[in-house]
Amino acid sequence: MEKAIQYINDNKQRFLDELFELLRIPSVSADAKFKDEVAKCADSVAEHLRKAGADNVEVCKTNGHPIVYGDKITDPSKPTVLVYGHYDVQPADPLELWHTPPFEPTVRKTEIHPDGAIFARGSCDDKGQMFSHVKAFEAMMKTGTLPCNIKFMIEGEEECGSSNLGPFVKANHDRLKCDVILISDTSIIANDIPSIDCGLRGLSYVEVEVTGPNRDLHSGVYGGAVCNPINILAKMIASMHDENNHITIPGFYDAVQVLNEAERTELNKAPFDVEAYKKDLGIGDVWGEKGYTTIERTGIRPALDCNGIWGGYIGEGSKTVLPSKAFAKISMRLVPNQSSDQITELFKKHFESIAPKGVTVEVRPHHGGEPVVTPTDSKAYLAASEAMLKTYGKKPIPTRGGGSIPIVALFEKELGVKTVLMGFGLDSDALHSPNEHYGIFNYFKGIETIPYFHHYYSK
Ligand code: BES
Ligand code: MN
Ligand code: MN
Repeated sequence: MEKAIQYINDNKQRFLDELFELLRIPSVSADAKFKDEVAKCADSVAEHLRKAGADNVEVCKTNGHPIVYGDKITDPSKPTVLVYGHYDVQPADPLELWHTPPFEPTVRKTEIHPDGAIFARGSCDDKGQMFSHVKAFEAMMKTGTLPCNIKFMIEGEEECGSSNLGPFVKANHDRLKCDVILISDTSIIANDIPSIDCGLRGLSYVEVEVTGPNRDLHSGVYGGAVCNPINILAKMIASMHDENNHITIPGFYDAVQVLNEAERTELNKAPFDVEAYKKDLGIGDVWGEKGYTTIERTGIRPALDCNGIWGGYIGEGSKTVLPSKAFAKISMRLVPNQSSDQITELFKKHFESIAPKGVTVEVRPHHGGEPVVTPTDSKAYLAASEAMLKTYGKKPIPTRGGGSIPIVALFEKELGVKTVLMGFGLDSDALHSPNEHYGIFNYFKGIETIPYFHHYYSK
């Protein structure tokens, strides 16, 4: 291992420069305008894999954005690790809130990242984390220290639902055969408190349309006498939490796995500074379901949030209009054993049932994903734990992540293989927000820790 670590130390500047090149490509998967850039990014990842020493590198076409595959089979009798990551990124808007342009990576020091952080869309989620695997692989290849077989599957549609990855996995069972899936696309508690996510929430995502009168109306002539779809929609959304911030959709909690007191106590042992949390977010208080801590609210309890809402006049000045339509996008984060399709169905039924007669409503389901819990007693988890102990000097704490990586549940179902979520980012790195960043410390800590994972896992 020393040889690989030495190689990493000798190549730090180039590893940074190469990540910067990748970050300059605006691979926004949700927006068709960026289709060519997404393809260019896939080609670049493939080229990096090839140069690092991977065989069978292929940019696999799908009905959407391509999937990059590559492997190195050193010895079929050794274990095989499948590394999954994504090279696509979230849209960068609102652009005016970025201090430096989202696709021109810039290093700045922050309170949390005194050694500097790379500000760019995708720096943490997930280009920086995904690329640490490519660089760790390069270091092992160039120093002859790769102790196992390795396969890479880097997709370009994670941020918009991975809709073509499912069919790809189904069609490529043999090619993707492996003993464990390793993903770096989650967070640690803090740079001096390593942790490993052992769960991800699932997702139900819907768009709703509320229609009132058949045309926009004069808000003086009709105001007060006709259902205003914006008023109604706002009220409907607000009614979906009760006074205890419990979700009011009938049956919503029926399948929710309840943790016992001992499990909850264990979960809450993870260090959490609510004052620092409030300060980071600029909020006067936290919010959530009564009877649960913040750690529990994001880790083991479901949530319902309006992600966007629009309708009526939002241009300059005022236009006195009672709009015909109002819209919203709503996400529901799910926990074991809730099912995405079932929850979407319950939402639809409930939303239709609470609409007053003066409006009609339409619920359009988007992509979803199932929640997962990953084991903490597997050989792979123990290898990740030992690797982090080695490079951070502290044993990582098992935690539950609030975000979703829908493909993890699918890997388990399709390939019968479990995942280890060995992430290196921080929740405060502004993922999906303006000024996303990734600590230089975190980038290199990832590159150093990954070879140790392979080493311990192959022992
Ligand atoms: N990397 C995130 C998920 C994540 C972040 C998990 C931090 C745990 C901690 C991933 O890229 C993501 O954003 N997923 C989407 C999934 C959706 C688009 C289907 C999400 O969670 O919103
Ligand atoms: Mn991600
Ligand atoms: Mn993301």
